[in-house]
Amino acid sequence: MSGRIPREFIDDLLVRVDIVDLIDSHVPLKKTGNNFVARCPFHAEKTPSFSVNRKKQFFYCFGCGASGNAISFLMDFSHLDFVEAVEDLAGFAGVEVPRESIEYPSGQKKEDLNSLYALMEQVAAFYVEQLRTNDEGKKAVEYLKNRGIGGDCAGDFMLGYAPDEWQTLASRFNPQLLLETGLLVSKEGGQPYDRFRGRIMFPIRDKRARIVGFGGRVLDDSLPKYLNSPETPLFHKGKEVYGLYELLKKNTKPKRILVVEGYMDVITLTQFGIHYAVATLGTATSQAHLDMLFRFSSELVFCFDGDKAGREAAWRAIAAVFPSLKGGRQIRIMLLPQNHDPDSLMREEGPDRFNDSVEAAQFLSDYFFEHFSKDLKLSKMEGRSSLRNEAASYLEQLPIGAFREMMFEKLSSLAKQHILDNEAILAYKKQENKHRQKSGRPSLSRFVMALLVQNPKLIDIVEQKEIDWNYLEFDGIERFKNILQMITDIRPTNYGVLLEAYRSHSDELVVKKLASLDLLIPDDGIETEFCDALDRLITQAIKAKIEKLLDKEKAEGLDAQEKELLRKMLTAKLFSAK
Ligand code: GTP
Ligand code: MN
Repeated sequence: MSGRIPREFIDDLLVRVDIVDLIDSHVPLKKTGNNFVARCPFHAEKTPSFSVNRKKQFFYCFGCGASGNAISFLMDFSHLDFVEAVEDLAGFAGVEVPRESIEYPSGQKKEDLNSLYALMEQVAAFYVEQLRTNDEGKKAVEYLKNRGIGGDCAGDFMLGYAPDEWQTLASRFNPQLLLETGLLVSKEGGQPYDRFRGRIMFPIRDKRARIVGFGGRVLDDSLPKYLNSPETPLFHKGKEVYGLYELLKKNTKPKRILVVEGYMDVITLTQFGIHYAVATLGTATSQAHLDMLFRFSSELVFCFDGDKAGREAAWRAIAAVFPSLKGGRQIRIMLLPQNHDPDSLMREEGPDRFNDSVEAAQFLSDYFFEHFSKDLKLSKMEGRSSLRNEAASYLEQLPIGAFREMMFEKLSSLAKQHILDNEAILAYKKQENKHRQKSGRPSLSRFVMALLVQNPKLIDIVEQKEIDWNYLEFDGIERFKNILQMITDIRPTNYGVLLEAYRSHSDELVVKKLASLDLLIPDDGIETEFCDALDRLITQAIKAKIEKLLDKEKAEGLDAQEKELLRKMLTAKLFSAK
């Protein structure tokens, strides 16, 4: 970890690099009209629906909906995280990435993090040596052998042994650094002591091969069975998974990734030739886990116990992943037979049958509907309305796209079998249709918003008009004001820069949709068209506001503020705007 990359640097970079050149260097592009096109690198297709726009500095695929700026392209195309993508892009532009100096809690500097990584590496090597040379270590080798783990596999995972003593590390390594990495535990009034004693050691590596933490297992039935490194400047449980580095070393683009619970599950599976498993580190699967894993594979298979607790855990996990599901991301659920974990099942079935079971794992969509139909007893009245309401409320969390539509279709056909009164679905269809109409011919406010988003420099025109937004009323005005605020704050040079400000923002999808509308306006007509549309919008919106206030006055009366506003509006000759 090092200092933050300054925001201005990222924005400059997005102006300096032309997205057309960047993408063209990865996926050869052809020019057609204002756009550059290619067959989409993010889904399989025969005719090109992937287009890159130079002016907007934006790519968009009409087929799968993939979209974004130059940084997003590198993240998706080269499976990079955000910082890596910025570094890559800087490399493309031939510039160095500057870092803001940040204050570490204990006044550490960046170099100290490097020394923490170096220490972890040395300690891991020490544990490996202990496994080979220490007499107790030999018991650990014996234990691993009994579980079927051979020397090669142990070597690939850099397995080691922590001697059963209290002060092994402090005499060999820098105690301060040991404390910071959590390898030593400090004790009030006493000497710090080794956290891991008499355990088989599993180094946890990030995908750049750096050791960020350790897990340790006892050799017998004593408790706790496993110990993990605490949260440290290097180690964040919610972000790392065990075995990813080792998996990627064998295969950088795995067809699927199996997500299991235990260290030993990953290792045994690997020993038997199943190289595509990773383990969460004793935490629930987080959004960060998913986003990371989906960067390397489009299919994740989650393993759960087949018992009641396991099924409930599976359901909780599904509910948690819903908001991040979209086209091209597939999740399957593998329920294990009673009293098995992946390790024991693989031993019983052998790798071929285990692989078959993984391939036969249930698709999330099937699991989802089965859960509702089975547990909610559709024949009963309450069951029907639960299906309608609950299922729809889950599905509403899905990002807009093909997958969401497919799920609603399924709900609808399931409902036909079971429910006569399917209001929720009708309501959904209506909403979706409205949406589709909108994206066919945008409303005036959407048109103005889209023009502005695509040409953020138009903000100057908005500012010149000194609009009082209190006087206006139209669909989506709050969102419009938020977008205006964002553009005013960051003054983006082009859309690519604006999009950067919306990364992971709740309006990100909305803004991307606005950017992907094709407004069919020639470059030299944009300003005039915008001025015109904005004036029309203001006129309409003032009328709408006045009507709304008058209606309210009739129905329930106005408060003092509203009365004052209405008086001003009626006397201020606002209609002269046009
Ligand atoms: P064995 O097959 O018995 O070696 O273990 P396992 O890998 O199958 O693990 P198990 O299913 O018992 O637990 C799954 C995961 O939960 C482990 O890999 C650990 O990450 C975590 N875990 C299990 N027991 C403990 C514990 O006592 N303390 C902590 N902190 N974590 C544990
Ligand atoms: Mn196990």
